[in-house]
Amino acid sequence: MDGRVARMAEDFPVAWAPGVRVLFGQDVLASRVAELGRTLSADYAGRPLTVLCVLKGASLFTADLIRAIALPLRLEFLGVASYGGGTTSSGEVRITSDTGTPLHDRDVLVVEDIVDTGLTLRFLHQALTARGCRSVRTCALLDKPSRRVEAVTVDYTGFVVEDRFLVGYGLDHDERWRNLPFVGVVEPAPTT
Ligand code: IMP
Repeated sequence: MDGRVARMAEDFPVAWAPGVRVLFGQDVLASRVAELGRTLSADYAGRPLTVLCVLKGASLFTADLIRAIALPLRLEFLGVASYGGGTTSSGEVRITSDTGTPLHDRDVLVVEDIVDTGLTLRFLHQALTARGCRSVRTCALLDKPSRRVEAVTVDYTGFVVEDRFLVGYGLDHDERWRNLPFVGVVEPAPTT
């Protein structure tokens, strides 16, 4: 496949996702993930890193990110829910599945798909600090600062985005589109 064909495939929505426009294509995602991996490898060198993937949205990002971190690390998963199935947060965050091992004394890197209102991140930070983690930092693929309700710190950010509802590369709308290989915008924007 030549470069032109590959670029066209990125520019146009895939057939089974009509109405989804590519915002960050596969190449763009891969090169930003590689950069984040290099930064994290330097910052956590010599420290016992635990990567905490926040399910379900961060699953694809985490899978790529950990392969870009050139350090021994432990991988944990935490399921949280804050959205009923629509496009706005219910404001209530709850744990739907907990980690398999205690995180006491660990240097934890929380990996999020997107920080929107910041409610989820604030909840996670408080919960992890209460569990006695040695340090808690956050790496988010996407950051939507214009929607912030809680003043949270995102230590590592892939891309800062405008107030648009995004899907793909782990992000869903009503459990759809997670498996798109790119991050896209749904057009017209979903209303629920
Ligand atoms: P927050 O608690 O409002 O910061 O929202 C965090 C969670 O909301 C993310 O981890 C996502 O699961 C979801 N979310 C926020 N914005 C979007 C979006 O544009 N597309 C898909 N999910 C989103």
